[in-house]
Amino acid sequence: MSKTYDGEHWIVEGLDLTVQRGEFLTLLGPSGSGKTTCLMMLAGFEAPTRGDIRIAEQSVQGIAADKRGIGVVFQNYALFPHMTVGGNLSFPLEVRGMDKSKRRSRVQQALSLVRMSGFEERLPQALSGGQQQRVAIARALVFEPELVLMDEPLGALDRRLREELQFEIRRIHRELGVTIVYVTHDQQEAMVMSDRVAVFSQGRIEQIASPEVLYEEPTRSFVARFIGENNLVKGEISHVKRGVCTVQVEGGSMTAAHLGDLAPGDRTLVAVRPERIQLRPQTGAYANEFIAKVEDVTFLGDHLRVRFNLFGHAQFIAKLPNIVGHGALLPGDEVRLGWAALDCRALNFEDT
Ligand SMILES: Nc1ncnc2c1ncn2[C@@H]1O[C@H](COP(=O)(O)OP(=O)(O)OP(=O)(O)O)[C@@H](O)[C@H]1O
Ligand SMILES: [Mg+2]
Repeated sequence: MSKTYDGEHWIVEGLDLTVQRGEFLTLLGPSGSGKTTCLMMLAGFEAPTRGDIRIAEQSVQGIAADKRGIGVVFQNYALFPHMTVGGNLSFPLEVRGMDKSKRRSRVQQALSLVRMSGFEERLPQALSGGQQQRVAIARALVFEPELVLMDEPLGALDRRLREELQFEIRRIHRELGVTIVYVTHDQQEAMVMSDRVAVFSQGRIEQIASPEVLYEEPTRSFVARFIGENNLVKGEISHVKRGVCTVQVEGGSMTAAHLGDLAPGDRTLVAVRPERIQLRPQTGAYANEFIAKVEDVTFLGDHLRVRFNLFGHAQFIAKLPNIVGHGALLPGDEVRLGWAALDCRALNFEDT
């Protein structure tokens, strides 16, 4: 499907996505990339300009949001302020015509699921932000939908609470087997929670895969930069042989894993993960060995973040574990760095 609000700019373009039943799928992307727009179309608050959405093979075109049977949690999808917690949870059941005693037991179940039993009589304003979010999650689950949409539900919470609720949402997903489509711009949150992550950029999916595959085998430089950190070095392929290629870069050559359809003569970006770089390796141990100059060293507790100048590339980052022997690095030092061919990837060249 595609979506434009003004008839001029495509906010979502040619999106073709299949969500598996029971899956935890996350839409991840920078601000303005169209994540919320996609969720609104799924929920039924916005209509696609072109294309169609089917749930279990049935088109949902023309079916109003409240008739789709989808649970939704938004960052600022406020609870009804004048209703108690119990009232908020009971409401979606009343709308569906459920009788009172059944409603009461459902509300109890949902509250216990989010660990909020005993809060039925409270008003939302008498709850903390994290407690309100828990109630909002319970309200989205209380009518036992098969599909739940969550748009940055933890965005307003502090880090500790966010991590706690990430864990809770995952537990609930496992316990109920419900399908969840989740939106975040926080790559770590996406990695922690999801079965698959769809990386969005400007209304298109750049890559959709499990967190491991996105990290280890990004197919595009946008993904290589957006998921974790990568040093990207421009070069040109000179040889390809059995999954490994040689790349001529300014000042030398690198040997990298060859994932795409790159051929000799093609331009490429070599992506090197900062944590894969070894300091002063045994000579000859790695396919890639270079002398680099230390620009600066930042102490981060469990690791050191060192910025090197590697043949004119002054932003070459290495993350070195904080172990004995690394403390002696000083700006201006020239040191030998090494990494294996399979610790870096030759990606299709894209202008950055
Ligand atoms: N109702 C609307 N009318 C016009 N333009 C809109 C509307 N809603 C969103 N947009 C535009 O569509 C683009 C994508 O917005 P969207 O809210 O889907 O992004 P997002 O990926 O959810 O971003 P964020 O991470 O900031 O929430 C933005 O440029 C936004 O200005
Ligand atoms: Mg959004």
